[in-house]
Amino acid sequence: MTKTQAKERIQKLRQEINYHRYLYHVLDRAEISDAANDSLKHELATLEDEFPDLVTPDSPTQRVGGRALTKFKKVPHRERMLSLNDCFSPDELRAWEERLLRIDPKVECRYFAELKVDGFAISLEYQDGVLARASTRGDGLIGEDVTENVRTVESAPLLLMRDFSKVTRTSDEIKKIFEEFPRVRRAVRVLPRHLEMRGEIYMTRSAFAAVNREQKKNNLPVYANPRNIAAGSIRQLDPKIAAARRLDFLAYDLVTELGQETHEEEHLIAKVLGFKTVEMAEVCASVDEVIAFWRKVGEKREALPYLIDGVVVQLNRGRDFKRLGIAGKAPRAAIAFKFAAAEATTILRDIIVQIGRTGVLTPVAVMDPVNIGGVTVSRATLHNQDEIRRLGVKIGDTVIVERAGDVIPAVKSILRRLRPKNAKPFSMPRVCPICGSKVVRKQQATSDKRQDLSVAYYCTNSQCAAVQHEMLYHFVSKKAFDIQGLGPKIVDVLLDQGLIRDAADFFTLKKEDVEILERFGEKSADNLIRSIAEKKSIAVARFIYALGIPHVGEETAIELAAHFGSVEKLASASSDDLQKIKDIGGVVATSIVEWFKSARNRELLKKLERAGVYPLKEKAAVVPQTLRGNIFVLTGILASLTRDQAKEKIRARGGDVSGSVSKKTTYLVLGEEPGSKLEAAKRLGVKTISEKEFLALIG
Ligand code: IVH
Repeated sequence: MTKTQAKERIQKLRQEINYHRYLYHVLDRAEISDAANDSLKHELATLEDEFPDLVTPDSPTQRVGGRALTKFKKVPHRERMLSLNDCFSPDELRAWEERLLRIDPKVECRYFAELKVDGFAISLEYQDGVLARASTRGDGLIGEDVTENVRTVESAPLLLMRDFSKVTRTSDEIKKIFEEFPRVRRAVRVLPRHLEMRGEIYMTRSAFAAVNREQKKNNLPVYANPRNIAAGSIRQLDPKIAAARRLDFLAYDLVTELGQETHEEEHLIAKVLGFKTVEMAEVCASVDEVIAFWRKVGEKREALPYLIDGVVVQLNRGRDFKRLGIAGKAPRAAIAFKFAAAEATTILRDIIVQIGRTGVLTPVAVMDPVNIGGVTVSRATLHNQDEIRRLGVKIGDTVIVERAGDVIPAVKSILRRLRPKNAKPFSMPRVCPICGSKVVRKQQATSDKRQDLSVAYYCTNSQCAAVQHEMLYHFVSKKAFDIQGLGPKIVDVLLDQGLIRDAADFFTLKKEDVEILERFGEKSADNLIRSIAEKKSIAVARFIYALGIPHVGEETAIELAAHFGSVEKLASASSDDLQKIKDIGGVVATSIVEWFKSARNRELLKKLERAGVYPLKEKAAVVPQTLRGNIFVLTGILASLTRDQAKEKIRARGGDVSGSVSKKTTYLVLGEEPGSKLEAAKRLGVKTISEKEFLALIG
């Protein structure tokens, strides 16, 4: 291909790619597939490689992150970047309007109301239609030059759309704008050499979820929220990091005068020039209409593709907006009408560490219970060590806790001035609080292996968390504490949310801790807490079995309970004492002695005691031991009691239960539909009894 041919092809390709970008990002439509679009970009990149002097900064190929910077340049803003005052209720909004009218009775009370996107502000400057500079707000007067990073954001146009013929052919929307708003058509006809547009950089829910999915898959810590990660990516010196993230930009403030008279027109101009704008916006003829819009947005909030924290309201007429001026750092004629923040302050009493299934250590804040939007919260995630550092949080601090929708509460910030003198810093433990193994710190490369935003801590014992989960499943299982409604899935959730770490924690759970969890409501939470409380007093045998001492199964636990009568006596038994008991040999005896020697296990026993769990003295002493020396085998279905109940009754009277018929068997108890055991009994001449006879025996 000759250079002239290449030039022509390059130009056409760029136009075509820009056109599809516009359709996709601004008009929310696609005419060709992602694959076809990628293919066009690939052809363009190949041609530009061959003819490097044909590369221009507005080419769609110039989005991939360039070289890393050593530091950001400072950028003075041509016009100050302001912030907004807040209000939270319709009454406050009405008071704001009254204030405006007091200051200037002539203002026209028509408002432009739009989503307040939860990201961070960026100013984009275009020189001759080409993106020349992107800067952060900084202190409002001077920001930082983040052009290289913002270039990677595809919804921020590199080139302003000026040839509308192509779009208008397909887009009735643009045509309609031009017909309805001739000022908009005039505004974009001839653009000034310099144009500034401001808006928000953000990350969609789906992009955020994808990042965290990837993090989880690679056993890396998850990020706290989309805003932090978007802000973090834009403020990295290496543009490859921003390029690897799916960030977005939407425009809401045209700084340059193009003859627009209302804020509505600014939005329309932005759209026409190739900027994405907010999903929901309305011109409102009164404060009441604004309130209705705010309510509507509140209802649709969860369904929006990105997080918002309220509605930005401003006088629609630019002239009025300007005349009202600035008070402090915010324009008088605009306000952020926010949704009642589901947050509250409380005191952080402790930071405990929860071990995830993959061995990652997650710090969890233990706080004084506090009501947040109708729910009492006493635990909140602190995500990871980086987050603790970012918050600067210490034990004893007064913290602001946030609960967004149905997500798990998180510590949002701290009130440093309220810090007590004895506040304690937190550091990750060096050994695992569950198994005592060494903890290692791993510098994170994220899934894209190129950035190092965070650090995670792992327990080096790959079995640790799994063992902990298994132990707790065992503790609540049928033959142990038999807690109704507390299966493995719920145990997993409680562990993952840091609500429990050991068996004693079950007994201090509160309804409020549980009811905010997925798959729970107020009633089911109540039921669970009640069934846990019911098991605070429990048979010694079940208690011993529940401890999960290696080699101590159900039968052994029963023997031990019968022999010692209490956990304290068992705990102080020597290996010799233990071996005196029938069926207990050296291995089992050592295992029991070792178990009670461990400091962690002793602490667990103490904690259970403090939680009000007390094993009842063995009933053996009260119930007459009428069945001593008799061995029972059960077969078929019993009508009046379950197998476990039958076993318990036999044992309580000093009898034994066996799983299979042998010469030693005293009785085979026949339930309905007896199995092969009956034949074995006949063969061996073992006596069979009916359920009725059995009931008579056990009284
Ligand atoms: S207008 C004078 N419109 O909220 C400031 N801001 O709390 C003009 N924001 O710094 C801002 N969505 O980062 C405006 N639709 C929207 C917005 C929005 C989010 C952010 C922006 C601003 C902050 C003010």
